[in-house]
Amino acid sequence: MAVLATQAIRRMRGGAQSHLMLASDGHPYVVKFQNNPQHIRVLANELMATRLAEAVGLSVPASEIVEVTDWLIQNSKELSLDLGQTQEQCRPGLQFGSRLVGGLMPGQVVDYLPEERLAEVKNLAEFFGMLVIDKWTCNSNGRQAVFYKRPREKRYAATFIDQGYCFNAGEWKFVDAPLRGVYARNLVYRGVVGWDSFEPWLSRAEELDPQKIWSIAEIVPPEWYGGDLAEIETLIERLLERRSRIRELITLFQESSRQPFPNWMTVSIGAIERQFPEPSWADTIRGPIM
Ligand SMILES: Nc1ncnc2c1ncn2[C@@H]1O[C@H](COP(=O)(O)OP(=O)(O)OP(=O)(O)O)[C@@H](O)[C@H]1O
Ligand SMILES: [Mg+2]
Repeated sequence: MAVLATQAIRRMRGGAQSHLMLASDGHPYVVKFQNNPQHIRVLANELMATRLAEAVGLSVPASEIVEVTDWLIQNSKELSLDLGQTQEQCRPGLQFGSRLVGGLMPGQVVDYLPEERLAEVKNLAEFFGMLVIDKWTCNSNGRQAVFYKRPREKRYAATFIDQGYCFNAGEWKFVDAPLRGVYARNLVYRGVVGWDSFEPWLSRAEELDPQKIWSIAEIVPPEWYGGDLAEIETLIERLLERRSRIRELITLFQESSRQPFPNWMTVSIGAIERQFPEPSWADTIRGPIM
């Protein structure tokens, strides 16, 4: 079910050249168009990965399919895309919309925070949960978030945006690499002390009902991926299989040159043995062998 775009507000920054638009449900959306310069599948990826993140309880914007009519495009000069030397009108039809964080009310939304502000982000631990989604869906871009606070608040909250390069962008192939899909600053991962830090998001992803995953794929407009149902089915089947590999993919990041989890508490068997040495045979008092 789509919402209808009623008005173009302004252009947004970024490679996909999104437009901020008002929709019939009264909300503003950052809209990525089918003929964006990145790839048409960016729309499918945004919808699926944003909904998967939402399903495991992470802070992502509400996501919608936004219908933009030819009439609105013809009557809004700014609904065009710069394609190098040429300009092209936005293509009418079904587009992807990410509801504007903070809405049009006063407040502050920023793409980046200095380290001291970043360290105070209310839901910083959600970066651990988003790593689960990014590794699972093979996000081939860096992790991106926006940070929002109301006018008199001191601390920001993170909302995860730009899932367009999950599933390896237009490729729909899982080409994993340790440093893919991670946030640029190690600071956000400093609080990881072990596997428990990734909960509840990790278990929720591993145990997500396949029916839920299929239902997310079913709402993707076929024109967003070339119309071949077999392709999206293969993608989802592989995604389901990969749930058992999320921990392995996080471990590859853990062991990478970034050393992102300096506070991970490893208790090696060797260390325990040294602390509590095995008593020698002569000292051992055993009861009768039954
Ligand atoms: N839901 C949202 N709420 C608030 N701001 C948003 C939202 N979605 C996108 N933005 C803003 O629009 C910008 C572009 O969005 P996004 O990163 O999704 O697009 P992109 O074209 O893929 O960008 P990039 O070139 O960084 O990959 C973001 O940097 C952010 O400032
Ligand atoms: Mg981006």
